[in-house]
Amino acid sequence: MKIGVYDSGLGGLTVLFQLKKVMPWHEYVFLGDNARVPYGDKSLDQLKAYTKESLEFLYHEKGCDAVVVACNTLSANTLEYARELGYKQLYGVLVPTAEHAVQHTKGSIGVIATRATIASAAFEQVIAGINAGIQVTSKATPLLTPLIEEARAGKPETNIILKNYLRSFKDANIDTLILGCTHYPVLERDIKRIMGKHVRVVSSPHPVAVQMLEQWAGSTDTNSVGKTEYIVTGDVERFKEQVKSVFGKGLQVVRFHKLISKT
Ligand code: DGL
Repeated sequence: MKIGVYDSGLGGLTVLFQLKKVMPWHEYVFLGDNARVPYGDKSLDQLKAYTKESLEFLYHEKGCDAVVVACNTLSANTLEYARELGYKQLYGVLVPTAEHAVQHTKGSIGVIATRATIASAAFEQVIAGINAGIQVTSKATPLLTPLIEEARAGKPETNIILKNYLRSFKDANIDTLILGCTHYPVLERDIKRIMGKHVRVVSSPHPVAVQMLEQWAGSTDTNSVGKTEYIVTGDVERFKEQVKSVFGKGLQVVRFHKLISKT
C-alpha cells in the first residue's frame, strides 16, 4: 500500500516514524506543509483550503491508497469536510489518541494542543462520547510548535514556557495528559519530568500506529520494505537541517512541491 502522511511540518514525522517502525512494508509519502506552519492559529477556511489541496496532491498526483492526517488540528477541524469531499481511506489521529487516554485514565484527563484544536473542543467531545464521567481540563499551548520547529526542545527558554503552561493542571489533579499535537512528542521527556511519575503522558504516534496496523492487517506482502518519499511545500534545506537536529536523522532526498491556496 502507498500511504500519505500529512502535517503542517515536523510533527507528522513523529507519526510517520512510528508507522514505518510498525509497518515497514508499506510505501510512504510524507507531506509537510512547512511553508504555512503553524496550522494551529489559522482560520477554519484556511485549514479547509490547505486540507483540500494537500489531499488532492497526495491522492491524485502521488497515487496514495490511504492518507493519515498526522495533525490533531486538522483531525479536529477538517476531517469531516475532507470525507465530504469523497476521500476514502482517510484517517485522523485525534480519535485513537483520545481513546488511548480513556483506556488508561482513572477519571481526570488534561489536554494540551494548538489553539484551533482546543477551540474545537474535539477531545472533550470524543472523550465524553466514550465516558461522560471523565473530567477534561484543556489548555492551548501555541508557543510549542514554533519552538519545536526552531529546534528549541530541551533549551532553558522552552522549559520555562512548558512549566508555565503545565502549571494550569496543578489544581485539576489530572492522572493522564494528552499531547494533543503531533509536534509535542519531541518534548515528551521534558513534559514527563515536569508532570512527575503520577501522570501518564499519552501522545498520537503509538495509538495511531496500533490502530492502522489493525486496520490494514493482511493487506500487503509484509516481507518487503517500502520506500519513503519526503515532500515539503517550503524550504527544503531548512527542513533537512530541522529533521537532523530534532530527530538526529539525515534525510537524503527531500522534494519541493508548491501548494497555493487563495485564502
Ligand atoms: N502538528 C499539528 C497538530 O497536531 C499542527 C501544529 C501546528 O502547525 O500548529 O496539531
